[in-house]
Amino acid sequence: MNASSPSPAQNQASTSTLYGGVTSRRVTVRDLASAKQRGEKWSMLTAYDALTAGVFDEAGIPVLLVGDSAGNCHLGYETTVPVTMDQMVMLSAAVVRGTKRAMIVADLPFGSYQESPAQAMHNAARLMKEAGVGAVKLEGGERSARSIELLVEAGIPVMAHIGLTPQSVHAFGGYPVQGRGDEAAHQLLRDAKAVQQAGAFSVVLEAVPAELAAQVTEQLAIPTVGIGGGPDTDAQVLVWTDMAGMTAGRVPKFVKKYADLRTVLGDAARAFAEDVRGGAFPAEEHSFH
Ligand code: KIV
Repeated sequence: MNASSPSPAQNQASTSTLYGGVTSRRVTVRDLASAKQRGEKWSMLTAYDALTAGVFDEAGIPVLLVGDSAGNCHLGYETTVPVTMDQMVMLSAAVVRGTKRAMIVADLPFGSYQESPAQAMHNAARLMKEAGVGAVKLEGGERSARSIELLVEAGIPVMAHIGLTPQSVHAFGGYPVQGRGDEAAHQLLRDAKAVQQAGAFSVVLEAVPAELAAQVTEQLAIPTVGIGGGPDTDAQVLVWTDMAGMTAGRVPKFVKKYADLRTVLGDAARAFAEDVRGGAFPAEEHSFH
């Protein structure tokens, strides 16, 4: 076998279910394309570190996104805007190291691709070479199509992101629902078709009316990944800190909280502090002699 011929594992037909069907190699873009053909829905979660990513990988989440939501969910910024390429490379490399099976997609952060397709290529290559991710994600529909085309031509799988694109928070004046009204809906459809035409293997639809997301999903051959896009997209993504109840304060309407980790961790920390104060920790079984 030479370097260009796929290994038997890579060649394996992508017909088994994404959940537990394929365990000996990472999920690929071909698996996701097959899942759309079968009508199998799949999930994506964000991850920003090796430990948490490993938990999600073991749980069978087929795609993990090292989102630039790391800015507000991991690094303490208010928005995704300040996140740098160096930070994305470091976080993405950790997520790759912590996982065996999930496809790892990394965000190109604000300012790392908007200048030109060549800039997008340079930074996408950093994420592939230095972090080892399997795909990159960037925001924008028609406006990003030329960059997507160049990356895809270079062999880099690209996930697009349209609708509410958080890197444009200052232009939007917040995080409003997108695609409402005829003109906005038509623009969203044009954006979706433009990224598909440019070669994106999937597209995130964020904060758009459910009916419009369903229409886009029906009209595209590539999988749509909804976040606040209703029940009819091919896949669903949530930010893990929202999904697991780690986020402080209000979360968007589209979030479902599957756990209350903030309370669990806070209680554990308070119990530890109390034990130390009262002398109950460390006990005999925690001590060396
Ligand atoms: O950065 C991120 O977490 C994202 C998701 C909201 C899709 O882009």
